[in-house]
Amino acid sequence: MRPNPNLIPRFNLDFDFSDLLYSIKSIFNKNIDVAVLDSIFGQRKFYFTNYGRSALYVILKSLNLPLKSKIGVPLYSCNVVFDAIIKAGFIPKFIDIDDNFTIDPDDLFKKIDDLKAIIVIHTFGRPADMGRIKKIAGDIPIIEDCAHSLFSEYKDKKTGTFGNFSYFSLAKYISIGGGGMITTNYIDSANIIHQEISSLEKSSINEELKNIFISYARSFFYHKPWFGLISLPIGLSIEDKVDLMNKRNFNVSLINKSDLSLFLHKLSTFKEQVELQRNNSFFLIDALKENSIKLPYEKNNTYCNYYLFPILFKNKDERDKASMELRKRGVDNAKLFSKSPEIGTKQYGYDQDCPFTEQVADRILTLPNHYTLSNKELNKIVDITREVFQNENII
Ligand SMILES: Cc1ncc(COP(=O)(O)O)c(C=O)c1O
Repeated sequence: MRPNPNLIPRFNLDFDFSDLLYSIKSIFNKNIDVAVLDSIFGQRKFYFTNYGRSALYVILKSLNLPLKSKIGVPLYSCNVVFDAIIKAGFIPKFIDIDDNFTIDPDDLFKKIDDLKAIIVIHTFGRPADMGRIKKIAGDIPIIEDCAHSLFSEYKDKKTGTFGNFSYFSLAKYISIGGGGMITTNYIDSANIIHQEISSLEKSSINEELKNIFISYARSFFYHKPWFGLISLPIGLSIEDKVDLMNKRNFNVSLINKSDLSLFLHKLSTFKEQVELQRNNSFFLIDALKENSIKLPYEKNNTYCNYYLFPILFKNKDERDKASMELRKRGVDNAKLFSKSPEIGTKQYGYDQDCPFTEQVADRILTLPNHYTLSNKELNKIVDITREVFQNENII
């Protein structure tokens, strides 16, 4: 790829100098006030870990299931979710998705008898069909994965308040150094989770400082001009050589004080950013609607945070050509979770029984829609995307 200082990054990484200062100061805080969480999610128990995957691991351990129990999980996901299942001593049983990119209730119904727990992922911030899923699950515990779905709602209730347990990856929509959160209102399980969390190690001041500076540097190089000049070209050149996602032996520890403080600080006003990102998404939907791609839409009874903006092409060939061409012309993009069927087969025992996931993996592309984009950048994304879609030599 030719270096391009004007390339618009695919994701938003928004950790600036004031965040760096806030984080450093907060290492020395005595108490951290989590009241803002009650105002968003209602009165529940909240626990914090170093990653979202660690939060899932702790929840799974608290269920006291026999070893090798099967845990239902969408194949269309990040493989660290499967790693957490295996690390906890269980086996992922893969469920297909529907055209909302979330668990297909019909496929769940077919596979339910095998399962001891179900992980429901609100992928890209799109709430899953919790009504049908809860009916099918009956007494089987539901764990909501809200890594992408901060502030999303299903039937006027926040995602994360439907399952017996929920977990969030805190460093996704909100740019912080890292972290995971568990929430539950089941007192028995909360006691077990509390014990497990109390036994985890916390970072030293030096480790916290190192993490803060890394987060700042990562964000700096994820912006123009450095993203297109250095970060993406280097990233692409090592992409196939190192497996950055293979963290099966991840370490489970407590969240850094600085990460939790910055998360809560940003969270208190974050709904405004979510609204901005929704407006950007509606602008893209309107501007791109005349084309042959399938655009995202908001299902009835849901409020989608539009954490990501997924579009579907007719086939892999068209998707791959469009992805390259968009990037060449200045719009970065991601083929999110497109390797999940392949990785699932090679590493996690996927049985080729999720046909729609296999299609989506070949056809998916996400476009930038972040709340930090300027109007000029949004118009550039529309113009370039239209140019690429209308050029018959490309798709
Ligand atoms: C859907 C989903 N769930 C969970 C995770 C895990 O989050 P973390 O990286 O904080 O462990 C990810 C991470 O990429 C994800 O995409």
